[in-house]
Amino acid sequence: MPDSTLLNRATLIIDQVTAEKPADYVLRGELGAAKYLDPEEKRDISHAVFAYYRWFGWLDTKAATQARVASALDFQRKFDADPASFKPEALAVRAVPAWVASEIDLTPAYLRHLQHEPTLWIRVQKEFAAALPRSLGNCTPAASALIPEALRPTALAYSGKTDLYKTSEFQKGVFEIQDLASQIVGHAAAPKPGETWWDACAGQGGKTLHLAELMDNKGLIWATDRNTGRLAALRKRAARAQVFNYRANTWNGGPFLPTKTKFDGILIDAPCSGVGTWQRNPHARWTTTPNDVKELAEIQLQLLNHAAGALKPGGRLLYAVCTLTKSETIAIADAFTTTHAAEFEPSPVFASDPSGHAQFFIQPHEFNSNGMFIAAWKKR
Ligand SMILES: C[S@@+](CC[C@H](N)C(=O)[O-])C[C@H]1O[C@@H](n2cnc3c(N)ncnc32)[C@H](O)[C@@H]1O
Repeated sequence: MPDSTLLNRATLIIDQVTAEKPADYVLRGELGAAKYLDPEEKRDISHAVFAYYRWFGWLDTKAATQARVASALDFQRKFDADPASFKPEALAVRAVPAWVASEIDLTPAYLRHLQHEPTLWIRVQKEFAAALPRSLGNCTPAASALIPEALRPTALAYSGKTDLYKTSEFQKGVFEIQDLASQIVGHAAAPKPGETWWDACAGQGGKTLHLAELMDNKGLIWATDRNTGRLAALRKRAARAQVFNYRANTWNGGPFLPTKTKFDGILIDAPCSGVGTWQRNPHARWTTTPNDVKELAEIQLQLLNHAAGALKPGGRLLYAVCTLTKSETIAIADAFTTTHAAEFEPSPVFASDPSGHAQFFIQPHEFNSNGMFIAAWKKR
């Protein structure tokens, strides 16, 4: 695609973006409808739009959108060639909004990671772990010690150019597109075959499907969310992945629980500010506010308080958020521990972790993934 066409197409998209219509949403709609573009052209347009928001803090606000896109692509090329030429002090004030400095440790490694293109992770079902890399090509297994060794080949970084959603393997449910940090949450939960789990904020079921596979599809998972549209998507994905040991139901996060069942494990993958996804979704850096963090923190604590009563004695409670702000991570986990000290004790997030930490940050620059926080408790 000639440069001017690319800049025009990216500009048409950026000019439609607002806080209510975020860049990834507009991109999905526009590129989905543009049947005349080939996958490579679509990739180039996404690359230009995301580069615009990644380098937004460096762009001349008085210039036309098209000139700013061109400038953002220049910054991206310069950074990719020599990341060290961008000083951490400059990244700290331009790559992220000022308010996050009091909420996150803005280390140079984290800030540089934010300015790179993200890695695409897939999770392949165990039985296809050997065959899928051969048929797709361009797959590299995760090296993370937080994933049991036998299951590391199921988390694959994909660096090819094929549109994965269109592959027959995806359509048959052989693999899911799922970030490594989300996969690590499933391994932290470590449900056993035959157990009964509650995935309380199941959304479209990314983690429900993973829990089901870790349970060898034996036992039962209650998958709830307050959004019925997401639960409908969950049902479709579960059918594709041949997962049947679940029940999907609405739960609005309030004190009335969806069932009287007592669970061996509860996962609360709570709604959050999503700061841990800022590499993948740079537009969100400029629309997320401190007030969002404050409001979401209140919801997170409520969800934990309400759901925790459904755990069996000895059961495992897991809290996960794809954010790194102190208010939504350590502050929530510490508040829950203090309030529920008589019934819940902090428990190691990973059975295999010799340090036995009951709170764990998946730092995006260490895992080449989204950022995530996980806390775990055991019911006394
Ligand atoms: C981080 S997402 C879940 C992602 C999902 N677990 C996955 O792995 O695909 C958080 C979910 O919480 C749901 N949610 C938000 N507020 C809620 C509430 N008050 N009660 C229950 N669910 C809520 C949202 O609809 C959203 O689907």
